[in-house]
Amino acid sequence: MASSSQHKHQLFLSLLLVLHPLSAAAQTGPNVTRGSSLSPQGNKPALWAQSPAGDFAFGFVPLQPNQFLLAIWFAKITTNLTVVWSANRDQPVQTGSSASLTRNGRLSLLDHNGQEVWSPGVGDVAYATMLDAGNLALMASDGMGYAWQSFEHPTDTILPTQVMNKGGLLSSRRSPSADDYSVGRFQLRLLPDGNLCLNTIALPTEHAYEAYWLTKGTLGTGSYLVFNQSSGIQEVQENSSLVNVTYANIGSPGHYYQRATLDPDGVFRHYTYPKPATGNGSYPDSWTVASFIPENICSAVIVEKGGSGACGFNSYCQFANNQKACLCPERYSYVDPGNSSKGCMPDFAEPRCDAYDSADFELTAMPNTNWTNAAYEWLSPMQEDECRQSCLEDCRCMVAISKDGDCLKKAMPLSGGRVDPGYGGKSLFKIPRVDSTPPPPGLSRGRKSPPVIVSAMLGCSAFVNILLISAIALLFLSSHRKRSPRAQIDSRTVGGHLQAFSYHTLEAATGKYGEILGKGAFGTVYKGVLTLGEAEALVAVKKLDKLARDGEKEFRAEMNAIGRTHHKNLVQLLGFCDEGPHRLLVYEFMSNGSLASYLFGENKPSWDQRMQIAFGVARGLSYLHEECSSQTIHCDIKPENILLDDCFTARISDFGLAKLLMREQTMTQTDIRGTKGYVAPEWFKKRAITAKVDVYSFGVMLLEIVCCRKNIELEFGSDAGPILTEWAYDCYSEKRLDALVEHDEEARSNWRMLERLVAVALWCIQEEPSMRPSMKKVTQMLEGAVEVSVPPDPTSFISSMY
Ligand SMILES: *[C@@H]1O[C@H](CO)[C@@H](O)[C@H](O)[C@H]1NC(C)=O
Ligand SMILES: *[C@@H]1O[C@H](CO)[C@@H](O)[C@H](O)[C@H]1NC(C)=O
Ligand SMILES: *[C@@H]1O[C@H](CO)[C@@H](O)[C@H](O)[C@H]1NC(C)=O
Ligand SMILES: *[C@@H]1O[C@H](CO)[C@@H](O)[C@H](O)[C@H]1NC(C)=O
Ligand SMILES: *[C@@H]1O[C@H](CO)[C@@H](O)[C@H](O)[C@H]1NC(C)=O
Ligand SMILES: *[C@@H]1O[C@H](CO)[C@@H](O)[C@H](O)[C@H]1NC(C)=O
Ligand SMILES: *[C@@H]1O[C@H](CO)[C@@H](O)[C@H](O)[C@H]1NC(C)=O
Ligand SMILES: *[C@@H]1O[C@H](CO)[C@@H](O)[C@H](O)[C@H]1NC(C)=O
Repeated sequence: MASSSQHKHQLFLSLLLVLHPLSAAAQTGPNVTRGSSLSPQGNKPALWAQSPAGDFAFGFVPLQPNQFLLAIWFAKITTNLTVVWSANRDQPVQTGSSASLTRNGRLSLLDHNGQEVWSPGVGDVAYATMLDAGNLALMASDGMGYAWQSFEHPTDTILPTQVMNKGGLLSSRRSPSADDYSVGRFQLRLLPDGNLCLNTIALPTEHAYEAYWLTKGTLGTGSYLVFNQSSGIQEVQENSSLVNVTYANIGSPGHYYQRATLDPDGVFRHYTYPKPATGNGSYPDSWTVASFIPENICSAVIVEKGGSGACGFNSYCQFANNQKACLCPERYSYVDPGNSSKGCMPDFAEPRCDAYDSADFELTAMPNTNWTNAAYEWLSPMQEDECRQSCLEDCRCMVAISKDGDCLKKAMPLSGGRVDPGYGGKSLFKIPRVDSTPPPPGLSRGRKSPPVIVSAMLGCSAFVNILLISAIALLFLSSHRKRSPRAQIDSRTVGGHLQAFSYHTLEAATGKYGEILGKGAFGTVYKGVLTLGEAEALVAVKKLDKLARDGEKEFRAEMNAIGRTHHKNLVQLLGFCDEGPHRLLVYEFMSNGSLASYLFGENKPSWDQRMQIAFGVARGLSYLHEECSSQTIHCDIKPENILLDDCFTARISDFGLAKLLMREQTMTQTDIRGTKGYVAPEWFKKRAITAKVDVYSFGVMLLEIVCCRKNIELEFGSDAGPILTEWAYDCYSEKRLDALVEHDEEARSNWRMLERLVAVALWCIQEEPSMRPSMKKVTQMLEGAVEVSVPPDPTSFISSMY
């Protein structure tokens, strides 16, 4: 353990480093002696040893608040910290951990609980020394040289003069984020036969896929790799002749820092950075790329024996200006909006072969785009027209590649996607046809139509009211619409997508409505078992409370509309019953209950899970508002209406039902009350109701997801306010976000994300509807695709309007 004088010494050193980054070298020795130890501190690097010339430092570097790496970094590059090696890249430690060289000569990193996180595995070390080349060497106490050196255990970077022998390995970082140094998917290896190879691996088993870059021929088993500071990475062959791996003519190597890093995108790049010359304070804020391999990472990674390629599944790769991008095809979005390399998923339900109608889909062409996973069908000769037809008619075909009279049909998941101007062929991508149905009436209508004015009330307190009014509305509507040709709903179209069940069947399926799953604004939900297709499946049967008898066609029209609405983040309607007075809906069963019980229950979901849920709901709502064939306003977004499936994917329930209960613009303002806490203010004023009411409710719910507490809470902590939306704005404007997530380490350590989410939520809960972003914009803001500006006080605009 450190003595207090050592602590003072370190404090002094790091203070010096902060105040005079360039002069610290003179104060620091390169040696770590026995009995010495170091603890991470605050958000500044903590120095343990510095190379004699002062270029490299060894100690703790801070990542996110309260995450530290024991690392080596370029001590004089102060714009950004450039880490060249770290001991615990996969396991950052927290405050309270310490690194020490024990009295008997063992280097060890202990976490805050005293558990050993890392040790080089050698004992009897006399001292550790930071060498000028950037090599951390542990000196054997018997004077026999190095017991261990960091140059022999590189992470993702090698430095000039560093050698890599056979069996040597670099592993890319997982993501370019400044807070993540953990092992990623790309490797550089010097194989036993002396060839150098770049390959991807499957995580977490680390099974290596085929090389995407390989030196040609056998160079001899005795060869090794060296970083030549005047030209780049070279392979030294057995007969000592040199072979370039990368090449750059570095004119005066003494004037540059250099490193070669296997980057998170799979490209191995040689970088340079001008060395700070004394007295000249202006330096570039980034490293310059001198050379790199492979020439085009997107075309290099071929998938034949599995793996997703250079990007994640269903995404395609673009390499331009030395930058790799992983992009999603039209109507697909990132699986993880925070991480484009995780691949993409369709925004729509994948076609099912047992209910496939080619009329629901169309093909969109992506020129010069190839997908290199194996085709399940290869048709030749076949021209593009026939190829399109063939893919459209085939429920399994998600993309067809048409090139030079060949037609290759491929299924999900797609991999090895890339765009390459020289390719010449094209991908024909299957997506749902946008205008396959005329928009149903009522709240659901075309995007550009004027806002619908409804007076409506939601929630339990207004329940009786709702029923009354909706009954009247349905009566009015059905008699009104019988006269219009639109009302001629063909029942076969309903049957085509949804199953119509008899009341008897559902009664049996639910054990005479024995098990209640929940009660909502529209009725009671029961658990049941039904035979669907060939298998038995759990279902949720919703018994709608007393709808108007005459509404049969109306009801079928709505079922038809809801049944055609497919999205990963919506609870799918499977069927219905409209026998006599009975109106029942049959949904997929969601095994993990509602977000409300998860979020406010005992075992709170992790930060990651909460983020996934928030993103999922945003995508689902964005789809309802803007992407499905007709706009649907949900009108009752709250955690009780977000269900979680087997994989804890968020699924919005009860969408489209608002239409059944509230319609037409004819209703006048009545006593309005909503689900307390989630209702947009315009419900209370004589204002148009638009999709922005859902944005408001989403904003409230987003804050609840971030903070794991209810919007309105009468018992709250000393510092917290009873109304989350108000308190959140106060915390945000006073820069006290940590108070919002007081006992949530995970949230506190994802600071930037936290800040972004709260800012997005505050935009959503602006009292003036036009100030709120659309759900599409919200999705982009959450994903980080667009900047989030500082939100104003949510109440600031409303006061001037009324
Ligand atoms: C580091 O230790 C070695 C061996 O004891 C010694 O030769 C060298 O002078 C030390 N360096 C410093 C700066 O103390
Ligand atoms: C570095 O490479 C150049 C040729 O590119 C060669 O002449 C020189 O000897 C190499 N330096 C070392 C130390 O191998
Ligand atoms: C060294 O060996 C390689 C093949 O192993 C050969 O191509 C090259 O010409 C040799 N160089 C010398 C100087 O012998
Ligand atoms: C590496 O490539 C450069 C440029 O093509 C060439 O001038 C140099 O001689 C090569 N070095 C070796 C060792 O092959
Ligand atoms: C030193 O400053 C000059 C301009 O004053 C600039 O052109 C030059 O690039 C700087 N040198 C370094 C190493 O940054
Ligand atoms: C420093 O960070 C900025 C922003 O992330 C980046 O643009 C720049 O390239 C980085 N500079 C270095 C030296 O890595
Ligand atoms: C990014 O995606 C990779 C690939 O799936 C994943 O392993 C990694 O955890 C992600 N990185 C972040 C920062 O989430
Ligand atoms: C396109 O993908 C196929 C695999 O389906 C592959 O054989 C072919 O080489 C690729 N073409 C180009 C130009 O990348």
